[in-house]
Amino acid sequence: MKRSRPVVAIDGPAGAGKSTCAGRLANRLGYVLVDTGALYRGVALAAAEAGISFDDGPRLGELTRNLPLRFAPNADGPPKLMINDIDRSADIRTPEISKGASDVSKHAEVRDALLGLQRKLGEDGGVVLEGRDIGTVVFPDAEVKIFLTASEKVRGERRWHELRARGVLADRDQTVAEVAARDLQDSQRPVAPLKPASDAIHVDTSEIDLEAAVSQMESIVRAKLAS
Ligand code: DC
Repeated sequence: MKRSRPVVAIDGPAGAGKSTCAGRLANRLGYVLVDTGALYRGVALAAAEAGISFDDGPRLGELTRNLPLRFAPNADGPPKLMINDIDRSADIRTPEISKGASDVSKHAEVRDALLGLQRKLGEDGGVVLEGRDIGTVVFPDAEVKIFLTASEKVRGERRWHELRARGVLADRDQTVAEVAARDLQDSQRPVAPLKPASDAIHVDTSEIDLEAAVSQMESIVRAKLAS
């Protein structure tokens, strides 16, 4: 059945501004926001707590298939990631879980187990989904596809500022290096790698602030809707 409202897919590397821009864009459009990276982070957190290695695809797959992951609406910010009905939104934002999410996301078993949930969350449209493979794998038929990028240095430094704002003390150069390593890993994995869909519109946030990027993205969506 044709969706009555569009799916907006936003993909791109870490630190390009996806979360901030996707959240503000969803607010401007009155759409629901789905941060798919939070789901991979939830799997990494649950695996760490269960003592499951990030290399063990079959056990990670089984864990993911049985993991009660859901989003809860949040009046003060992005939806909260709930695992077993407990808000784990803060616990999934550490540098260890960032790396862990990239590690667990390499496994086809994990990706397959999260695919149905992501599609369900977007099936009615009126939704902004952000991740790495939304426009290529999760919703290849999305009405709007945006690939958000920025230079490696800008992305690393943005992530460092984000961490500092949350009181996480991290070394600046190390954060830049970690972001670059994670993107390389996400881009080079054989299953659903980070890459722009052939019909995605690219928005580069290296030289513009995120509010300007959101305005560009809003114009892209409104132009698509009008066409
Ligand atoms: O968007 P994020 O930084 O919170 O994502 C964390 C990791 O999850 C990222 O390094 C790769 C993985 N991921 C993915 O493989 N596919 C997605 N659609 C979203 C995230």
